[in-house]
Amino acid sequence: MQTLTIRRPDDWHVHLRDGDMLRAVAPFTARQFERAIVMPNLSPPVTTVAAASAYRERIIDAAGPGFTPLMTCYLTDEADPDELARGHGEGVWVAAKLYPANATTNSAHGVTDIRKLWPALERMQAIGMPLLVHGEVTDAQVDVFDREAVFIERTLAPLVRDFPALKVVLEHITTRQAAEFVRDAREGVGATITPQHVQLNRNALFAGGLRPHAYCLPVLKREEHRLAVRAAAVSGSPRFFLGTDSAPHVIGRKEQDCGCAGIFNAPYALESYAAVFEAEGALDRLEGFASEHGPRFYGLPLNAAQVTLERGETEVLPLIEAEGQALVPFHAGERLGWRLRAA
Ligand code: DOR
Ligand code: ZN
Repeated sequence: MQTLTIRRPDDWHVHLRDGDMLRAVAPFTARQFERAIVMPNLSPPVTTVAAASAYRERIIDAAGPGFTPLMTCYLTDEADPDELARGHGEGVWVAAKLYPANATTNSAHGVTDIRKLWPALERMQAIGMPLLVHGEVTDAQVDVFDREAVFIERTLAPLVRDFPALKVVLEHITTRQAAEFVRDAREGVGATITPQHVQLNRNALFAGGLRPHAYCLPVLKREEHRLAVRAAAVSGSPRFFLGTDSAPHVIGRKEQDCGCAGIFNAPYALESYAAVFEAEGALDRLEGFASEHGPRFYGLPLNAAQVTLERGETEVLPLIEAEGQALVPFHAGERLGWRLRAA
């Protein structure tokens, strides 16, 4: 097969940032994806309908025509059910994002105790607004490699049981436990999967030295987990869908004493996923994962447009510079075997 034409995909989890960085990165996402669920962890976080509307306008401006940002509300201990319902009703918010306080970048205003969210979750359940979850405990006693599995046990499993009609997406899954939990859960539970978590295991963090550009949260796990997440991605199950978690930080913020978490994978995300599906003999399932399972989960229409991937070398630059931002992309300096045909 020399070309692969699929329905135009969407990215169900991306960080587009703001200001110069937004202008630098949004065109990469818009080149590949028709829509994207945009994370609200700006500083300050996007907690009001007004802030989300204004942010949406800035994204549309930066991305250019043909791209639709789908906005999310950043949940705090003070999350107001009425504001959530208003933003959802007005079509501003598609979903709301739960960051456990201090779990990751710009999560200081996140939720300190899930019980504080109960009124918000009850309302979200009633109006059909999905909850997107950064699934890691923040308990310093828990080993960083176990934080997702412990979160599922302590927080997610009870939550999915206590709110039986709430739509829940466990974002950027990294473990066998997460893949199995989502696979076996009740209806209305899904997960996004990143390109890095199906291609790298935690050895990548220490390959010949410390590798800040392989560092993201949840952190890469053991090989056993990579294989389980990869199998879920290519399984064809409608519960698993594409979410890059592209999370750009300028090079200086990655390569420093306390480097930021996040992998900037937006430029070649589709080519990257295609390599995985091909290696697994599952290219016929790429379209479901990239373009169908997500919209069906969210209850949104499938995109009508198509994109074509063609076989051919894509050389990934070691450094991408735009709008004064210097960024090291995922696969920096490597060659990928597919390329997205220009629209
Ligand atoms: O690696 C990550 N980077 N994980 C997150 O959860 C947040 C993200 C960011 O915003 O940089
Ligand atoms: Zn993220």
